[in-house]
Amino acid sequence: MTNSLLKCLSVLLAVGTCISCTPEPIDLGVDDRFGALPATALTPIQNPYSPGKVELGKLLFWDPILSGNKDVACVTCHHPSHGYAEQLEFSIGVGGQGLSALRRNGTIVKRNSQTILNTAFNGITSDGYYNPEVGPMFWDNRSKSLEKQAIEPILSAEEMRGVQIPKEAILDTVIQRLERIPVYVALFEEAFGEHAITVENLGRAIAAFERTLITNQSRFDQYAAGKPNALSSFEIRGMMNFIETGCANCHSGPMFSDFELHVLTVPENDQLNILDDGDGSFAFRTPTLRNLGITSPYMHNGVFSTLEEVLEFYDEAADASQNPNVSSAQRDEKLRQLQLEDDEISSIIAFLKSLNDDHFDAEIIKEVPSGLHPGGNIDL
Ligand code: HEC
Ligand code: HEC
Repeated sequence: MTNSLLKCLSVLLAVGTCISCTPEPIDLGVDDRFGALPATALTPIQNPYSPGKVELGKLLFWDPILSGNKDVACVTCHHPSHGYAEQLEFSIGVGGQGLSALRRNGTIVKRNSQTILNTAFNGITSDGYYNPEVGPMFWDNRSKSLEKQAIEPILSAEEMRGVQIPKEAILDTVIQRLERIPVYVALFEEAFGEHAITVENLGRAIAAFERTLITNQSRFDQYAAGKPNALSSFEIRGMMNFIETGCANCHSGPMFSDFELHVLTVPENDQLNILDDGDGSFAFRTPTLRNLGITSPYMHNGVFSTLEEVLEFYDEAADASQNPNVSSAQRDEKLRQLQLEDDEISSIIAFLKSLNDDHFDAEIIKEVPSGLHPGGNIDL
């Protein structure tokens, strides 16, 4: 027998042995209703991935050229240094100065800024199914898809438009501004072909960039992928408590959200007396629980600044409404009577922290094609 044939046989044998002794997958107790995030995000048929589009989208995300007074960019309220969200109870848009907790003056937006991280997966179910063409966006799910959502802040008087330019005119104004900047003309052409500077393509480029902002390497994801040591026993206990106390009835799927609206009776935020800012239902979408370590304050009105406060709220929410404007009868039936022990609370919080993951693009852009200050008036 030749040497090479021998080698071949031994490889075959080795492979054979390996297969026959592959251990059964261990049951790590991860509930069927949640799990790891997928490796990459699906794209709409009309908006396939391309590196050029992502680069363009990132510049647009940072460029205040998209705002009426050229002072606010998407990144102003969704900054990489703050988990693509910000440490502010309510966002401050047009006319504001400073970044995150230091931001002041300017127009107040009536909701807490959501993180852009993993919004590519908005709508994903426990089975891993989602359609990026209709991904639900905002605290009330009122916009569908990243492409469509990206246009909304530009139209909003509080966020980016201001009052000088009417709503009907702002998109034409923005397109004309971009057409006058040769770098943008070239980047849009590269990404979309000729005469490519349109409102639709603006939304597509920003969405393509947002789809790259995914964090699927948290310790929980590693654990769910079969690494038992990725979580401590205390965190695993926290996961069990999370399931047993009914958190997973709403915080389900790989995003830890059912993407449904629920009435929780979250207290009003005294900082800004806006009762219900929406349709009067006091119903808000279950938010993702990923990256909570960098996205405080919490809830649609930023009323809680720590996870301890959130857990204390849940502990009492099933007893009585925490909001005088919402009756106990309106409260979601899935909210359970909890009476949590301190140890249970801290284990759940430890588990939630295992969903943090800082492997995302946190580059601070130094220059944008308009020549304006990247991020707008974010320096004090
Ligand atoms: C002035 C602050 C501000 C600016 C500027 C801003 N946003 Fe937002 N963003 C918010 C707030 C606040 C919310 C939640 C609003 C709501 O629910 O009504 C939000 C929500 C979102 C969401 C929904 C996330 C989810 O999970 O549903 C996306 C996506 C988003 N913004 C992207 C953008 C893009 C793209 C831009 C720029 C074109 C932008 N934002 C500009 C404050 C801002
Ligand atoms: C009935 C559905 C439901 C249940 C059960 C539930 N949640 Fe929530 N959760 C929500 C909704 C809806 C919000 C947003 C409420 C708002 O903004 O007014 C929320 C918000 C949160 C937030 C704030 C996240 C952020 O980014 O602002 C955390 C943390 C949280 N829930 C953890 C938990 C934990 C832990 C449990 C179990 C003790 C739990 N939730 C049970 C639906 C639910």
